[in-house]
Amino acid sequence: MHGGCTFIKYQKANFMAQKTIVITGATAGIGLAATIRLAEMGNNLILISRDENKLQQVKLNITNKYNTVSCDVYPADLSSMNGIRGVAARIIKNHANIDVLLNNAGGVFPEYTETVDGFEYTFAFNHLSYFLLTGLLLPVLGKSEEPRIINTSSKAHNGSKLDFSDIMHKQHFKPMEVYSESKLANLYFTYKLASLLNETNVTVNALHPGVVQTNFGQDMPGLWKLILPIIRKFFISAQEGAETSVFLATSPEVTGVNGAYFIKKKPVVSSLVSLEEASMNKLWDLSEKLTGFSYTEVISALPKAVIPVGEE
Ligand SMILES: NC(=O)c1ccc[n+]([C@@H]2O[C@H](COP(=O)([O-])OP(=O)(O)OC[C@H]3O[C@@H](n4cnc5c(N)ncnc54)[C@H](OP(=O)(O)O)[C@@H]3O)[C@@H](O)[C@H]2O)c1
Repeated sequence: MHGGCTFIKYQKANFMAQKTIVITGATAGIGLAATIRLAEMGNNLILISRDENKLQQVKLNITNKYNTVSCDVYPADLSSMNGIRGVAARIIKNHANIDVLLNNAGGVFPEYTETVDGFEYTFAFNHLSYFLLTGLLLPVLGKSEEPRIINTSSKAHNGSKLDFSDIMHKQHFKPMEVYSESKLANLYFTYKLASLLNETNVTVNALHPGVVQTNFGQDMPGLWKLILPIIRKFFISAQEGAETSVFLATSPEVTGVNGAYFIKKKPVVSSLVSLEEASMNKLWDLSEKLTGFSYTEVISALPKAVIPVGEE
């Protein structure tokens, strides 16, 4: 059973201290705050964002401050399927071991725009990038002792529903609606993947970070531009916003927890719509078709979960 209902498939007493963690959207906001905290905790980092200069600056700050930590940076445009395939290939070539993938990069966009693949930008960047990057890195993640995938969703998924007749919003584009649907898609992806990974050693969970002071929404026009600078003061800091991501990446409390949705480090139940299996399956099939990536063989090659609950 998934969807905010904590499902523990195995438990371990010993927790590996230093992990290798891939973080997308690591140069700003929640991703940057998570990056700094994870470095401070002694983890090795693999960082992805578009801007190479910003990535190099983050790397310099981290390696100057935390000299036991390795930090590798990979500029890539995660709205492009080729961009995702390219960065995954470079990471796999250079890193034999990845313990955690934190899918964090995402955003809201003011108008209908198509990616180089001809997909609506929000759907491609916020959802298809999680789907494809995860699938491509899964074989390497599977080699870790305790692999974890973390998907950054949002409470904004509440009240939204996918319209499969216009999934790319060609007919009808409202930025916040499209964003909310992409965050619902993050939950569908999490729950479906969790069910497929059930017998394996890999776990996947989702989270809402809170309403956080970041660059989120900064390009939005009209009322947003007027209101955002005023209400931003009441949002939580990026450091606080990163707490649940860091918790899911590192805490022994979530060892073996699979297919749950977390807010403030606690599993909660997501919207009723987000638990609909028919939509979950439909989105999964569509995502495989659009990305040209099939999970079947990758999942069947993963090691099985070795330590069942109660047998350690
Ligand atoms: N902020 C909130 O209140 C809030 C609430 C709920 C959920 N969330 C979720 O939290 C996540 C992080 O949001 P945030 O507010 O921290 O965002 P942010 O401050 O706008 O940071 C976005 C990060 O993503 C990178 N990025 C943007 N476009 C990219 C692309 N095409 N390819 C690769 N990297 C790209 C950016 O770096 P470059 O520009 O250099 O590429 C930056 O590092 C998102 O998934 C968002 O939906 C945020």
